[in-house]
Amino acid sequence: MRILGIETSCDETSAAVVEETGDAAKPWAIRSNVIASQVPIHREWGGVVPELASRQHIRDICGVVERALAAAETTWRDLGAVAVTQGPGLVGSLLVGVSFAKAAAAAAGLPLVAVHHLAGHIESLVLQNGELPLPSVILVVSGGHTSLYLVERPGSYQTLSRTRDDAAGEAYDKVAKLLGLGYPGGPVIDRLAASGNDRAIALPTTRLTHADRNAPELKGDLDFSFSGLKTAVLRHVRAHEGALSDQEIADVAASFQRVVVSALIERLFVAARRYGAKSVGIAGGVSANSRLRAELMDRGERREVPAFLPSLSLSTDNAAMIAAAGLRRFRAGVTAPADLNADPALSLG
Ligand code: KG4
Ligand code: ZN
Repeated sequence: MRILGIETSCDETSAAVVEETGDAAKPWAIRSNVIASQVPIHREWGGVVPELASRQHIRDICGVVERALAAAETTWRDLGAVAVTQGPGLVGSLLVGVSFAKAAAAAAGLPLVAVHHLAGHIESLVLQNGELPLPSVILVVSGGHTSLYLVERPGSYQTLSRTRDDAAGEAYDKVAKLLGLGYPGGPVIDRLAASGNDRAIALPTTRLTHADRNAPELKGDLDFSFSGLKTAVLRHVRAHEGALSDQEIADVAASFQRVVVSALIERLFVAARRYGAKSVGIAGGVSANSRLRAELMDRGERREVPAFLPSLSLSTDNAAMIAAAGLRRFRAGVTAPADLNADPALSLG
Protein backbone atom coordinates (compact mmCIF):
# COMPACT_ATOMS: atom_id res chain seq x y z
CA MET A 1 0.00 0.00 0.00
CA ARG A 2 1.06 3.60 -0.67
CA ILE A 3 0.19 6.56 1.56
CA LEU A 4 0.33 10.28 0.87
CA GLY A 5 1.82 12.29 3.76
CA ILE A 6 1.27 16.01 4.28
CA GLU A 7 3.21 18.24 6.68
CA THR A 8 2.57 21.97 7.23
CA SER A 9 3.13 22.43 10.98
CA CYS A 10 5.73 25.18 10.79
CA ASP A 11 7.64 26.74 7.89
CA GLU A 12 8.00 23.82 5.49
CA THR A 13 5.24 22.74 3.10
CA SER A 14 5.90 19.07 2.39
CA ALA A 15 4.18 16.13 0.70
CA ALA A 16 5.51 12.60 0.29
CA VAL A 17 4.53 9.17 -0.95
CA VAL A 18 5.71 6.26 1.18
CA GLU A 19 5.14 2.62 0.34
CA GLU A 20 4.99 -0.55 2.41
CA THR A 21 7.75 -2.98 1.50
CA GLY A 22 6.34 -6.18 3.00
CA ASP A 23 9.64 -6.58 4.88
CA ALA A 24 8.92 -6.52 8.62
CA ALA A 25 12.47 -5.41 9.45
CA LYS A 26 12.42 -2.42 7.09
CA PRO A 27 8.71 -1.75 6.65
CA TRP A 28 8.66 1.44 4.55
CA ALA A 29 10.28 2.90 1.44
CA ILE A 30 10.17 6.52 0.28
CA ARG A 31 8.88 7.01 -3.28
CA SER A 32 8.98 10.82 -3.07
CA ASN A 33 9.50 13.54 -0.46
CA VAL A 34 8.96 17.10 -1.74
CA ILE A 35 9.75 20.02 0.58
CA ALA A 36 9.09 23.70 -0.15
CA SER A 37 11.02 25.62 2.49
CA GLN A 38 9.92 29.09 3.57
CA VAL A 39 13.26 29.90 5.19
CA PRO A 40 14.10 32.76 2.76
CA ILE A 41 10.75 34.42 3.60
CA HIS A 42 11.15 34.26 7.37
CA ARG A 43 14.88 35.03 7.39
CA GLU A 44 14.07 38.65 6.66
CA TRP A 45 12.19 38.83 10.00
CA GLY A 46 14.71 36.85 12.07
CA GLY A 47 12.26 34.01 12.78
CA VAL A 48 9.03 32.37 11.67
CA VAL A 49 6.13 34.82 11.24
CA PRO A 50 3.01 32.65 11.69
CA GLU A 51 0.71 34.68 9.44
CA LEU A 52 3.23 34.69 6.60
CA ALA A 53 3.77 30.97 7.09
CA SER A 54 0.10 30.02 6.74
CA ARG A 55 -0.35 32.22 3.67
CA GLN A 56 2.67 30.64 2.00
CA HIS A 57 1.40 27.12 2.81
CA ILE A 58 -1.83 28.00 0.98
CA ARG A 59 0.16 29.10 -2.08
CA ASP A 60 2.40 26.03 -2.07
CA ILE A 61 0.26 23.09 -0.97
CA CYS A 62 -1.36 22.11 -4.29
CA GLY A 63 1.86 22.27 -6.30
CA VAL A 64 3.84 20.41 -3.64
CA VAL A 65 1.29 17.55 -3.53
CA GLU A 66 1.19 17.34 -7.34
CA ARG A 67 4.98 17.20 -7.48
CA ALA A 68 5.11 14.50 -4.78
CA LEU A 69 2.60 12.33 -6.67
CA ALA A 70 4.37 12.87 -10.01
CA ALA A 71 7.83 12.11 -8.58
CA ALA A 72 6.43 8.91 -7.03
CA GLU A 73 4.74 7.95 -10.32
CA THR A 74 1.57 7.64 -8.30
CA THR A 75 -2.02 8.69 -8.98
CA TRP A 76 -4.76 9.25 -6.41
CA ARG A 77 -6.11 5.81 -7.39
CA ASP A 78 -2.82 4.13 -6.35
CA LEU A 79 -3.09 5.48 -2.79
CA GLY A 80 -4.51 3.62 0.21
CA ALA A 81 -4.73 6.55 2.65
CA VAL A 82 -3.82 10.17 3.34
CA ALA A 83 -1.83 11.07 6.48
CA VAL A 84 -1.51 14.60 7.82
CA THR A 85 0.17 16.36 10.75
CA GLN A 86 -2.62 17.30 13.17
CA GLY A 87 -0.30 19.04 15.69
CA PRO A 88 1.55 20.39 17.53
CA GLY A 89 2.62 23.48 15.60
CA LEU A 90 1.34 26.84 14.40
CA VAL A 91 -2.44 26.66 14.20
CA GLY A 92 -2.78 28.61 10.95
CA SER A 93 -0.11 26.46 9.29
CA LEU A 94 -1.55 23.18 10.57
CA LEU A 95 -5.01 24.15 9.32
CA VAL A 96 -3.79 24.39 5.73
CA GLY A 97 -2.50 20.82 5.74
CA VAL A 98 -5.45 19.42 7.71
CA SER A 99 -8.04 21.14 5.47
CA PHE A 100 -6.25 20.02 2.32
CA ALA A 101 -5.90 16.42 3.56
CA LYS A 102 -9.56 16.20 4.62
CA ALA A 103 -10.78 17.53 1.29
CA ALA A 104 -8.43 15.32 -0.72
CA ALA A 105 -9.29 12.18 1.28
CA ALA A 106 -13.02 12.85 0.90
CA ALA A 107 -12.75 13.55 -2.83
CA ALA A 108 -10.61 10.48 -3.51
CA GLY A 109 -12.60 8.26 -1.14
CA LEU A 110 -9.53 7.50 0.96
CA PRO A 111 -9.19 7.00 4.72
CA LEU A 112 -7.62 9.91 6.62
CA VAL A 113 -4.93 9.40 9.29
CA ALA A 114 -4.00 12.10 11.83
CA VAL A 115 -0.34 12.12 12.86
CA HIS A 116 1.45 13.73 15.81
CA HIS A 117 4.40 15.72 14.46
CA LEU A 118 6.83 14.22 17.00
CA ALA A 119 5.64 10.67 16.24
CA GLY A 120 6.69 11.56 12.70
CA HIS A 121 10.18 12.58 13.87
CA ILE A 122 10.46 9.34 15.90
CA GLU A 123 9.36 7.21 12.92
CA SER A 124 11.93 8.99 10.70
CA LEU A 125 14.42 6.74 12.50
CA VAL A 126 12.58 3.61 11.40
CA LEU A 127 12.06 4.96 7.88
CA GLN A 128 15.82 5.44 7.64
CA ASN A 129 17.14 2.44 9.56
CA GLY A 130 14.36 -0.16 9.76
CA GLU A 131 12.71 -1.27 13.01
CA LEU A 132 14.87 -0.41 16.05
CA PRO A 133 15.79 -2.95 18.75
CA LEU A 134 13.23 -2.29 21.54
CA PRO A 135 12.93 -0.90 24.12
CA SER A 136 14.47 2.21 22.64
CA VAL A 137 15.05 5.66 24.14
CA ILE A 138 14.58 8.43 21.58
CA LEU A 139 15.54 12.08 21.90
CA VAL A 140 13.39 14.37 19.77
CA VAL A 141 15.17 17.69 19.49
CA SER A 142 13.91 20.49 17.25
CA GLY A 143 13.04 24.16 17.16
CA GLY A 144 9.92 23.59 19.25
CA HIS A 145 10.68 20.48 21.30
CA THR A 146 13.35 18.73 23.34
CA SER A 147 11.93 15.52 24.79
CA LEU A 148 12.95 11.98 25.63
CA TYR A 149 10.59 9.12 24.75
CA LEU A 150 10.59 5.44 25.63
CA VAL A 151 9.41 3.19 22.81
CA GLU A 152 8.59 -0.23 24.27
CA ARG A 153 6.44 -1.47 21.39
CA PRO A 154 6.23 -0.19 17.80
CA GLY A 155 3.93 2.84 17.74
CA SER A 156 3.88 3.41 21.53
CA TYR A 157 5.61 6.57 22.74
CA GLN A 158 6.00 7.27 26.47
CA THR A 159 7.28 10.69 27.55
CA LEU A 160 10.26 10.45 29.92
CA SER A 161 11.25 14.11 30.06
CA ARG A 162 11.09 17.42 28.24
CA THR A 163 12.52 20.88 28.38
CA ARG A 164 11.39 23.20 31.15
CA ASP A 165 11.91 26.31 29.02
CA ASP A 166 13.51 26.70 25.57
CA ALA A 167 13.91 23.87 23.08
CA ALA A 168 17.52 23.22 22.02
CA GLY A 169 16.84 24.42 18.45
CA GLU A 170 15.19 27.54 19.84
CA ALA A 171 18.33 28.21 21.92
CA TYR A 172 20.42 27.82 18.75
CA ASP A 173 18.15 30.27 16.92
CA LYS A 174 18.17 32.83 19.77
CA VAL A 175 21.95 32.65 20.29
CA ALA A 176 22.54 33.04 16.54
CA LYS A 177 20.28 36.08 16.56
CA LEU A 178 22.16 37.78 19.39
CA LEU A 179 25.47 37.01 17.68
CA GLY A 180 24.05 38.64 14.53
CA LEU A 181 24.20 35.39 12.52
CA GLY A 182 20.68 35.26 11.07
CA TYR A 183 17.96 32.59 10.88
CA PRO A 184 17.86 29.62 11.27
CA GLY A 185 20.64 29.57 13.82
CA GLY A 186 21.44 25.86 14.03
CA PRO A 187 23.25 25.37 10.73
CA VAL A 188 25.27 28.64 11.05
CA ILE A 189 26.43 27.94 14.60
CA ASP A 190 27.24 24.35 13.64
CA ARG A 191 29.43 25.61 10.78
CA LEU A 192 31.20 28.36 12.78
CA ALA A 193 31.79 26.06 15.75
CA ALA A 194 34.19 24.01 13.61
CA SER A 195 36.72 26.87 13.68
CA GLY A 196 36.18 27.88 17.33
CA ASN A 197 37.69 26.80 20.64
CA ASP A 198 34.94 24.95 22.52
CA ARG A 199 36.59 25.67 25.89
CA ALA A 200 37.14 29.39 25.26
CA ILE A 201 34.11 30.53 27.25
CA ALA A 202 32.79 29.05 30.47
CA LEU A 203 29.03 28.58 30.01
CA PRO A 204 26.69 27.01 32.59
CA THR A 205 25.04 23.59 32.34
CA THR A 206 21.68 23.33 34.08
CA ARG A 207 21.03 20.08 35.95
CA LEU A 208 17.53 19.63 37.29
CA THR A 209 17.11 17.46 40.34
CA HIS A 210 13.48 18.09 41.30
CA ALA A 211 10.18 17.28 39.60
CA ASP A 212 8.52 19.95 37.48
CA ARG A 213 5.42 21.36 39.23
CA ASN A 214 3.62 21.09 35.87
CA ALA A 215 4.52 17.40 35.44
CA PRO A 216 4.76 15.90 38.96
CA GLU A 217 4.37 12.36 37.55
CA LEU A 218 7.85 12.57 36.03
CA LYS A 219 10.92 12.43 38.27
CA GLY A 220 12.26 15.52 36.52
CA ASP A 221 15.97 14.70 36.64
CA LEU A 222 16.00 13.87 32.92
CA ASP A 223 14.46 17.25 32.03
CA PHE A 224 16.32 19.84 29.95
CA SER A 225 16.75 23.59 30.39
CA PHE A 226 18.46 25.94 27.94
CA SER A 227 17.30 29.43 28.89
CA GLY A 228 20.13 29.98 31.44
CA LEU A 229 22.68 29.08 28.78
CA LYS A 230 21.15 31.57 26.34
CA THR A 231 21.23 34.29 29.03
CA ALA A 232 24.89 33.53 29.76
CA VAL A 233 25.73 34.01 26.07
CA LEU A 234 23.77 37.27 26.10
CA ARG A 235 25.78 38.49 29.12
CA HIS A 236 29.03 37.53 27.42
CA VAL A 237 28.08 39.46 24.27
CA ARG A 238 27.04 42.51 26.35
CA ALA A 239 30.27 42.41 28.36
CA HIS A 240 32.10 42.82 25.04
CA GLU A 241 29.69 45.58 24.04
CA GLY A 242 28.57 43.49 21.08
CA ALA A 243 31.95 43.95 19.39
CA LEU A 244 33.18 40.37 19.07
CA SER A 245 35.75 39.47 16.43
CA ASP A 246 35.02 36.64 13.98
CA GLN A 247 37.27 34.34 16.02
CA GLU A 248 35.51 35.29 19.26
CA ILE A 249 32.13 34.57 17.64
CA ALA A 250 33.39 31.17 16.51
CA ASP A 251 34.60 30.53 20.09
CA VAL A 252 31.16 31.40 21.50
CA ALA A 253 29.51 29.14 18.90
CA ALA A 254 31.83 26.23 19.74
CA SER A 255 31.49 26.68 23.52
CA PHE A 256 27.69 26.95 23.29
CA GLN A 257 27.49 23.89 21.05
CA ARG A 258 29.67 21.83 23.40
CA VAL A 259 27.37 22.56 26.37
CA VAL A 260 24.14 21.89 24.42
CA VAL A 261 25.38 18.65 22.89
CA SER A 262 26.76 17.28 26.15
CA ALA A 263 23.49 18.04 27.99
CA LEU A 264 21.51 16.21 25.29
CA ILE A 265 23.83 13.19 25.03
CA GLU A 266 24.30 12.80 28.77
CA ARG A 267 20.58 12.67 29.56
CA LEU A 268 19.86 10.36 26.62
CA PHE A 269 22.34 7.78 27.90
CA VAL A 270 21.26 8.13 31.55
CA ALA A 271 17.71 7.37 30.37
CA ALA A 272 18.93 4.49 28.21
CA ARG A 273 20.63 2.89 31.20
CA ARG A 274 17.67 3.51 33.52
CA TYR A 275 15.15 1.91 31.13
CA GLY A 276 17.38 -0.91 29.89
CA ALA A 277 17.29 0.37 26.31
CA LYS A 278 18.48 -1.93 23.53
CA SER A 279 18.92 1.07 21.23
CA VAL A 280 18.96 4.88 21.29
CA GLY A 281 18.08 7.42 18.62
CA ILE A 282 18.02 11.15 17.99
CA ALA A 283 15.53 12.79 15.61
CA GLY A 284 14.26 16.31 14.83
CA GLY A 285 15.91 19.34 13.22
CA VAL A 286 18.80 19.54 15.69
CA SER A 287 19.75 15.91 14.91
CA ALA A 288 21.31 17.42 11.78
CA ASN A 289 23.99 18.89 14.07
CA SER A 290 27.44 17.54 13.24
CA ARG A 291 28.76 17.41 16.80
CA LEU A 292 25.58 15.78 18.12
CA ARG A 293 25.76 13.13 15.39
CA ALA A 294 29.44 12.41 16.06
CA GLU A 295 29.04 12.21 19.86
CA LEU A 296 25.98 9.96 19.58
CA MET A 297 27.83 7.46 17.41
CA ASP A 298 30.92 7.61 19.61
CA ARG A 299 29.01 7.12 22.89
CA GLY A 300 26.83 4.41 21.37
CA GLU A 301 29.90 2.44 20.34
CA ARG A 302 31.60 2.84 23.71
CA ARG A 303 28.44 1.84 25.61
CA GLU A 304 27.65 -0.88 23.11
CA VAL A 305 24.13 0.45 22.57
CA PRO A 306 23.22 0.65 18.88
CA ALA A 307 22.61 4.33 18.06
CA PHE A 308 20.41 5.59 15.21
CA LEU A 309 19.98 8.85 13.28
CA PRO A 310 17.84 9.92 10.34
CA SER A 311 19.59 11.11 7.17
CA LEU A 312 20.08 14.90 7.04
CA SER A 313 17.04 15.35 4.77
CA LEU A 314 14.85 13.34 7.15
CA SER A 315 16.11 15.28 10.22
CA THR A 316 14.32 18.55 9.53
CA ASP A 317 10.58 18.76 8.87
CA ASN A 318 9.37 16.59 5.98
CA ALA A 319 6.24 14.67 4.98
CA ALA A 320 7.91 11.27 4.47
CA MET A 321 8.17 10.85 8.25
CA ILE A 322 4.49 11.83 8.59
CA ALA A 323 3.54 9.26 5.94
CA ALA A 324 5.57 6.59 7.80
CA ALA A 325 3.95 7.39 11.16
CA GLY A 326 0.60 7.46 9.33
CA LEU A 327 1.16 3.95 7.95
CA ARG A 328 2.02 2.73 11.46
CA ARG A 329 -1.24 4.18 12.81
CA PHE A 330 -3.34 3.00 9.88
CA ARG A 331 -2.06 -0.57 10.31
CA ALA A 332 -2.97 -0.31 14.02
CA GLY A 333 -6.53 0.42 12.85
CA VAL A 334 -6.63 4.13 13.68
CA THR A 335 -8.22 6.57 11.23
CA ALA A 336 -9.47 10.13 11.70
CA PRO A 337 -13.04 11.41 11.39
CA ALA A 338 -14.03 13.72 8.53
CA ASP A 339 -14.39 16.61 11.01
CA LEU A 340 -10.75 16.33 12.17
CA ASN A 341 -9.41 19.64 13.50
CA ALA A 342 -5.84 20.89 13.86
CA ASP A 343 -4.57 20.85 17.45
CA PRO A 344 -1.63 23.23 18.06
CA ALA A 345 -1.03 21.73 21.54
CA LEU A 346 -1.58 18.04 20.68
CA SER A 347 0.18 15.81 23.21
CA LEU A 348 1.99 12.51 22.70
CA GLY A 349 2.40 9.77 25.32
O1 KG4 B 1 12.40 19.73 13.21
P1 KG4 B 1 12.58 21.09 12.65
O2 KG4 B 1 12.84 21.22 11.17
O3 KG4 B 1 11.34 22.00 12.96
C1 KG4 B 1 10.66 21.93 14.18
O4 KG4 B 1 9.81 21.01 14.32
O5 KG4 B 1 11.00 22.78 15.04
O6 KG4 B 1 13.77 21.79 13.48
C2 KG4 B 1 14.23 23.08 13.19
C3 KG4 B 1 15.33 23.44 14.19
C4 KG4 B 1 15.76 24.92 14.12
O7 KG4 B 1 15.75 25.45 15.42
C5 KG4 B 1 17.19 24.85 13.55
O8 KG4 B 1 18.03 25.89 14.03
C6 KG4 B 1 17.64 23.50 14.07
O9 KG4 B 1 16.51 22.66 13.93
N1 KG4 B 1 18.77 22.96 13.28
C7 KG4 B 1 19.99 22.74 13.79
C8 KG4 B 1 20.81 22.30 12.72
N2 KG4 B 1 20.04 22.26 11.59
C9 KG4 B 1 18.79 22.65 11.95
N3 KG4 B 1 20.47 22.91 15.04
C10 KG4 B 1 21.78 22.62 15.25
N4 KG4 B 1 22.63 22.22 14.28
C11 KG4 B 1 22.20 22.04 13.01
N5 KG4 B 1 23.05 21.61 12.06
ZN1 ZN C 1 9.82 19.16 13.48
